[in-house]
Amino acid sequence: MSVIPSRLLYLCLHLLVLYFQLQESQQTSADFRFYIENHTRNPEDLSRKQVRIYQLYSRTTGKHVQVMGKRVNANGDDGGKFALLVVETETFGSHIRIKGKESEHYICMTDKKKIVGRQDGRKQECVFVEEFLENNYTALVSAKYKGCYLGFNRKGRPKNGSRTAQTQQEVHFMKRHPKGKEDPLEEFRFTTVTKATRRVRRLKLHPRRN
Ligand SMILES: *[C@@H]1O[C@H](CO)[C@@H](O)[C@H](O)[C@H]1NC(C)=O
Ligand SMILES: *[C@@H]1O[C@H](CO)[C@@H](O)[C@H](O)[C@H]1NC(C)=O
Ligand SMILES: *[C@@H]1O[C@H](CO)[C@@H](O)[C@H](O)[C@H]1NC(C)=O
Repeated sequence: MSVIPSRLLYLCLHLLVLYFQLQESQQTSADFRFYIENHTRNPEDLSRKQVRIYQLYSRTTGKHVQVMGKRVNANGDDGGKFALLVVETETFGSHIRIKGKESEHYICMTDKKKIVGRQDGRKQECVFVEEFLENNYTALVSAKYKGCYLGFNRKGRPKNGSRTAQTQQEVHFMKRHPKGKEDPLEEFRFTTVTKATRRVRRLKLHPRRN
């Protein structure tokens, strides 16, 4: 495949996805045009990673996912150093890599569907796809192993990905900022709004932040 057509195709797909995300959030078409213009003007932005830092609150343990080197569990305290996660988002879509800030290990799912921490997060086994559920929780399904979710039992131990399903509470999470780091309004938006709308809103509300 030659380089130019595939880049063009990628750009078109990207714009299409943005369009639907914005439609969904009922943004005005003026916002949409504004957003598109910036991105078509600077196509290098398309491949840029976004990085966010937050915690993942587990519905079953009431605690937070923490990455302690090779071990991953859901027993982290709010504000605990192993519970701080660095989440890398590809600009395109909802594919993410999750790394423990302190341990610098990525959360990955092995071919045996076991959840482990790994230093090298480049493999597809370390990519998860965010699913926003109607109950306002977020589930993270493996990008490689279909239907295998990141999940933790009541003791906070990782579940075998083969034995998970989107409907289980064990795979339900909430993204949370560490205690005291963000105002409640921001946190509220954070759990309910898609990436694209957040960016547009931020532009409108805090134009100098980017
Ligand atoms: C988009 O372009 C406008 C006008 O050039 C600029 O003011 C704004 O900061 C840009 N926004 C982003 C996210 O690049
Ligand atoms: C997870 O479950 C699958 C299917 O039951 C099994 O093949 C696999 O060995 C299990 N993995 C671990 C780490 O126990
Ligand atoms: C989800 O959040 C929205 C507001 O963002 C709220 O109106 C709705 O009741 C929530 N749903 C559940 C099941 O809590």
